[in-house]
Amino acid sequence: MAHIFVTRRIPESGIDLLRAKGHTVTVSSKEGVLTKQELISELKNNPYDAVLCLLTDKIDGDVMSAAPSVKIFANYAVGFDNLDRAAAKDRGVLLSNTPGVLTEAVAEHAIALMMAAARRVPESDQFMRAGKYGGWDPLLLMGTELKGKTLGIVGLGRIGSRVAEIAMRGFGMSVFYYDVKRNEQFEKDLGASYSSHAEEVLRAADVISIHVPLLPETKHLVNADRLALMKKTAIVINTSRGPIVDEAALVVALKNKTIAAAGLDVFENEPALAPGLAELPNVVLTPHTASATIEAREAMSKLAAENILAALEGTALPSKLE
Ligand code: DGY
Repeated sequence: MAHIFVTRRIPESGIDLLRAKGHTVTVSSKEGVLTKQELISELKNNPYDAVLCLLTDKIDGDVMSAAPSVKIFANYAVGFDNLDRAAAKDRGVLLSNTPGVLTEAVAEHAIALMMAAARRVPESDQFMRAGKYGGWDPLLLMGTELKGKTLGIVGLGRIGSRVAEIAMRGFGMSVFYYDVKRNEQFEKDLGASYSSHAEEVLRAADVISIHVPLLPETKHLVNADRLALMKKTAIVINTSRGPIVDEAALVVALKNKTIAAAGLDVFENEPALAPGLAELPNVVLTPHTASATIEAREAMSKLAAENILAALEGTALPSKLE
């Protein structure tokens, strides 16, 4: 039977599954992220067969080399920018992620941020709690409607497509998307338009929702120059990874009102925020909780465990990362 290390407490479904198969599971007892040294010494001191890791664990060559008995690092996340894929390939170590099971949660969160930013919900909430409400006012906290507006999707993967679908069917928005790969079926099904140039989408959209993975080529995809192309009324939503947006440049754009608002669930240097970001009234901030529904987190736990079981049994991984 195998010994599996889980780097932090997660919902039990996956752990139950591993234990039900007779494996021993050790969950880190630390309340928080293990430092690289803590992770390395845990792995060096115990000949684990598999590791269930989180997006906050940087799994690089040093970590892999400290754990020669580990067959798989199964990420409890769809994003995989914390995993060194080249180092894993060199060492013949398997990697997996959790696509599909958090699509709905993240898409709904992107929509929540969109609505909150468009209708100034956090600002209104703070206004009320501060006791500033003096009665109905015809000009108070006016926002903008989504119906009929253009949603610019940057990255039409599972989550981007679902956001587009909800926005189109639910609000009557039109969708203009950018991706490295065109999806003509999607265009046909939803009447969406495509551009192979991100700039065209950023220039035309009223709301921009980002759904690309973090790769060297997507880092700062939204930078000062691209923010400058956007409409003054544009709302930028990011539920993918923080470094895709140049956060300092975004603060400047929001402060100078060259764009209208933003909704962010991810940050360039998590958990830190760019100076000035938290003071801006026209940004809605959530603590990387887009996938934080009971349904999604339980399913992520289970899928990570299923990947581990497949690796241990030598069968095809449900969601192998190449
Ligand atoms: C993911 O799975 O990559 C998400 O960011 C976790 O919330």
